[in-house]
Amino acid sequence: MADSIAQHYHQRTKYDPQTIANKGRQLDWSKQPVPYKDYKLGFPVDLKPYLEKSPAAPAERLWWQRLSRLLVNSYGLTAKVMTMTAEPLYLRAAPSAGGLYPAEIYLISRGTSLLPAGLYNYQVRTHTLLRFWDDYPWQALQEGCFWHPSLENTQLALVISAVFYRSVWRYEDRAYRRIFLDTGHLLGNLELAGSLCDYRPHLIGGFADDAVNQLLYLDRDQEGVIAIAALADQLQVAQNLPLAPTVLPAPVQTQFPKLADGELLPYFHQVTQIAPDDRPPPRYPISPADDPAEPIDKYDLPFCLKISTQSSSIPWGEGLAELEQTLLTRRSTRRYTGDPLTQAELLALLDFTYHPEHLSEQGFDAQPDYFDLSLIQTFIAVSGVDSLEPGCYHYAPQAEELRQIRFKQFRQELHFLCLGQELGRDAGAVVFHTANLAQAVERYGDRAYRYLHMDAGHLGQRLNLAAVRLGLGVSGIAGFFDDQVNEVLGIPEDEAVLYITTLGKPWKSGS
Ligand SMILES: Cc1cc2nc3c(=O)[nH]c(=O)nc-3n(C[C@H](O)[C@H](O)[C@H](O)COP(=O)(O)O)c2cc1C
Repeated sequence: MADSIAQHYHQRTKYDPQTIANKGRQLDWSKQPVPYKDYKLGFPVDLKPYLEKSPAAPAERLWWQRLSRLLVNSYGLTAKVMTMTAEPLYLRAAPSAGGLYPAEIYLISRGTSLLPAGLYNYQVRTHTLLRFWDDYPWQALQEGCFWHPSLENTQLALVISAVFYRSVWRYEDRAYRRIFLDTGHLLGNLELAGSLCDYRPHLIGGFADDAVNQLLYLDRDQEGVIAIAALADQLQVAQNLPLAPTVLPAPVQTQFPKLADGELLPYFHQVTQIAPDDRPPPRYPISPADDPAEPIDKYDLPFCLKISTQSSSIPWGEGLAELEQTLLTRRSTRRYTGDPLTQAELLALLDFTYHPEHLSEQGFDAQPDYFDLSLIQTFIAVSGVDSLEPGCYHYAPQAEELRQIRFKQFRQELHFLCLGQELGRDAGAVVFHTANLAQAVERYGDRAYRYLHMDAGHLGQRLNLAAVRLGLGVSGIAGFFDDQVNEVLGIPEDEAVLYITTLGKPWKSGS
């Protein structure tokens, strides 16, 4: 079968050592995007007074504290750095490729005694919710989400949109990958901050794009909704909801016009939308055959070296206090020492990332929502982990095993594969998330591309937080020589590389 648009997009946006030099161009700083959205009119609801925790506060105040903490721990401003321009750059709880923050968060209230019905934009700079529309939007949201069951009993929903230009300014067509990876990190934070604040986000990835965009008055040429989460209040019995499907398929498009650079991203986004009048209309739940399966251990090579990854889980403190501390202090490491990780550290990272069920006793969600993890594979290039032979391993989450596929010290190659970034060379372990695109497209149409990148980002965020909690360094890398990663590390060639997370001992001044 001919390549579909998702496969075409992926192929077209690969970095390759032969062509990357031609792509290098100067950034136009006069057109640098502003990572905030302003509204001319609206009613601000200040969440700052509720940042402070007072467990004995009246119920009403506690409700505001939970919402305020959910948002600040997920996407709030957590650091200020000076830049070459006059403006300081504010970093957020979620990492973002290039610090461009393409994602916006909206909150939709069905209408509660404390938060009137309406549309709210989360104004990150001031930690306020700005009510810019005060109509009753819930039914339109339900319609736009094809009557997703999680919206039946919930009162609040978070909607994440992407302002494409913020990331396109720097990354051009390849920005689409980073936008969804960024959003995956944000969804990871929402999931975990939800555990802190007694909210359970139920993800909705299948919605009528235009309908939801219109509901939020988005300019469809500039921005689009990319993920929705119904926020179940775990303190309300009626909102302890069963799991529901998180995805709907969209069409597969194998015929498309010749697209010039710069046209590819908007076209791809447009054709992976779900139309409100799709016939037959997509319905939740989707058929059991489409039901996302458990992660599978896809590669099992006979006779290869296998290492059990069973490990005790990371402790997160009384009331998950260490989780909040980690969410608010997480930073991407800019430089590693090159010293090795211990094997116990690597195993603890894997345990936290791929086995949430091991953490439920500490108060985490045992089965957080992803779009479809069964499509994603994990490979790890080990360069410096005590008592682990350097090489490339496939991680089999069900068997809890690392299975060696190639043995070699790959440090120099990793440096090259990560576009010459030292983070790749000096890390102790480099994690690759991959997917078979053809299979993913077969399951969900070209929209699968969105789901895959959000899930890879979500896994990346769990790795980030576990690393920071263990005092390790961590950084995502979305710029890499795609095909060469497979060739050099021995990753099967039909596994498209989605994302890289580097892990190592952080360099500190004086170390
Ligand atoms: C999807 C994604 C891709 C990234 N790619 C790189 C990269 O290639 N190189 C790098 O040094 N940092 C990378 N980062 C880290 C960002 O530069 C970092 O998140 C941003 O500067 C904000 O800083 P913070 O993470 O400390 O909050 C990436 C982060 C994300 C989420």
